[in-house]
Amino acid sequence: AYKADEDYDYLFKVVLIGDSGVGKTNLLSRFSRNEFSSESKSTIGVEFATRTIRVDEKLVKAQIWDTAGQERSDPVPQRNKRMPLRFHIPLLTRSLPVHSIYRAITSAYYRGAAGALVVYDVTRHITFENVERWMKELKNHTDANTVIMLLGNKADLRHIRAVSVEDAQAFAQQERAFFTETSALESMNVETAFTEVLTQIY
Ligand code: GTP
Repeated sequence: AYKADEDYDYLFKVVLIGDSGVGKTNLLSRFSRNEFSSESKSTIGVEFATRTIRVDEKLVKAQIWDTAGQERSDPVPQRNKRMPLRFHIPLLTRSLPVHSIYRAITSAYYRGAAGALVVYDVTRHITFENVERWMKELKNHTDANTVIMLLGNKADLRHIRAVSVEDAQAFAQQERAFFTETSALESMNVETAFTEVLTQIY
């Protein structure tokens, strides 16, 4: 028998990147399950979710990867100061320097990604400034065909906005990326953003 969710014409990997707390996990849960959590915890490790949409009569299945923005934007991993480093590294990799383990994890995260959603928080300007670093890492690990979309999330917080649409638009244009503002909370443009990336890949 044919399982409904195995039924697709294309499978595309899309990665979510951006600083901690910008709303990556909630954008993913809004798109994949139509859920939002106001008290979501920082992502540990890598999570992914899938959803299949129809593009031009074809079924396009998106496999969306999500990870914590914290440790990944930080070249030197934060660790619990009370615990010696060796407890944090699995036995088999103990002889590798920490930075090479991080590099391997980063490469695996980006490998085969056909699209990327680079997210910042419109209320925290620093998360927009850091987009440049995320773009660099993305471009170092993916090929030039990867579809990139910049997302200014938390657009519902209009009264405390710190990044203008114009600045973000100009930056996206310079990076050859698509751009839109979203709100995972209000379900604004989330569907549109994911659909746009998948359509562009297709
Ligand atoms: P890391 O896993 O640490 O990288 O964070 P993240 O980017 O996945 O952020 P997450 O989705 O966990 O959201 C962080 C906080 O922002 C949570 O309290 C969310 O409820 C909140 N949040 C996420 N999206 C929105 C949004 O569109 N509007 C508002 N107002 N809050 C949001």
